[in-house]
Amino acid sequence: MMKLSIEIEQTKTPRAKVAADKLGFGKYFADHMFTLEYEAGAWKNPKITPYGPIAMEPGASVFHYGQAMFEGMKAFRGQSGKIHLFRPEFHAQRMAKGAERLCMPSIPQDIFLEAIQALVKLDESWIPQEKGASLYLRPTLMGTESFLGVRPSEKYLFFIITSPVGAYYSEGFNPVKIWIEEDTIRAAPGGLGAIKAAANYAASLQASTQAKKKSYSQVLWLDAAHRKYVEEVGTMNVFFRIGNEVITPALDGSILAGATRSCVLQILKSWNIPVVERKISIDEIAKAHQDGTLKEIFGSGTAAVISSVGELSNDKVQMLINDGKVGELTQKLHNEISDIQYGIKPDVHNWVKILN
Ligand SMILES: Cc1ncc(COP(=O)(O)O)c(C=O)c1O
Repeated sequence: MMKLSIEIEQTKTPRAKVAADKLGFGKYFADHMFTLEYEAGAWKNPKITPYGPIAMEPGASVFHYGQAMFEGMKAFRGQSGKIHLFRPEFHAQRMAKGAERLCMPSIPQDIFLEAIQALVKLDESWIPQEKGASLYLRPTLMGTESFLGVRPSEKYLFFIITSPVGAYYSEGFNPVKIWIEEDTIRAAPGGLGAIKAAANYAASLQASTQAKKKSYSQVLWLDAAHRKYVEEVGTMNVFFRIGNEVITPALDGSILAGATRSCVLQILKSWNIPVVERKISIDEIAKAHQDGTLKEIFGSGTAAVISSVGELSNDKVQMLINDGKVGELTQKLHNEISDIQYGIKPDVHNWVKILN
C-alpha cells in the first residue's frame, strides 16, 4: 500500500459523545475529517483536521453543474475490540466507477483505503461499542473549480466525514411501510442510477417527502420507461421471497449495485436458497400477494443492513406482507450479516478488514 503523508491537526475541542440509543442516523459527526485536493492532474495535500466548514467559491462547479458523488460504508467495533471495516475495497471500486461516469478523477484505491484507515483510527473512540451501532463513513467527491460553463471541473475536493449511528429506522427492526411511486422516477437507462451521484438523491426527494407525509418511510421506484418493473427502494436494494425463491431486480444500469445486495446474494447461494436476478413487475408482485405465494419483502443497504418491509402500497393497491411481521429469512439474513460485521461469526466471504 502507498504511504500517504497525511498532515494531522488534532482538535483542541473534542465534541461530546452521545449514547448509542440516542444516536439515530446521520445526526452527529466525529471530531475529524480527511481532505484531499486535486489540481493540475494530481492529488495533493492529504490532511486530517477538526470537523468543520470548508471554504469554496460560489462559482465552484459543484454548486452549478452538480459534479458530486459519495459513498456510504461502516466501521464496527468487533467483538474482540478491534476495528472492523466492512468491504472497504468494494466501496473504493464503486466510487471509482462513479467518478468516471461523472468525469471526475477517481481516487486510487490505496489512497482511499489509507485515508479511511487513518481517519477511523484517529477517531476510533467514536465507534460505538453496542451491537447495532457503528461509525458510518461518508467519502465524498466534488468539483471545486470556480467557473461558469458546462464542462468538467479541473479541480476537485475529496473528503471523508464520519458519523456514529444507531438503528437506521426510527421503528427499529420493525417492518417498514413502503410507497409504490408511479408519478416520478429516480433514474432512467443511460442516466446516473447505477452510481451514487448526489443528483439521484435530489431527484428522489419530492416522492419521499410526499410518502413520509402519508407515513411511509421510503418509496419503491419503478422503471422510467414502463413504470412497471421494480428498481429499488430509497436507499436500499429490494428482494421478494415468492414461493421458495428469492427474486431481486437485475442490475440493468439504473439501479445501484449495493454492497449489501451482493452479500445477500452470496449468503443465499451458500445456504442453497434459490435466488434470481431478473426483471420483476409490480403486477407480478401483486399477483403473488393475492395468491399467497409472496412470503417476505426486505431491503438491503449499508445504513439499515437488512430491513423488513411490512407493507407495500399506493392509491391503487395495498399489500400487507407476512401479516406485518418480520419474515423468517429476513431476520436470518440480518443476523448473519450483522454477526459477520461484528466478528461474532467467521468472515468466510472475506468482507471484513480488521485494523491493527
Ligand atoms: C439508491 C440506493 N440503492 C441501494 C443502496 C444500498 O447499497 P449498499 O448496500 O452498498 O449500501 C443504497 C445505499 O447505499 C442507495 O442509496
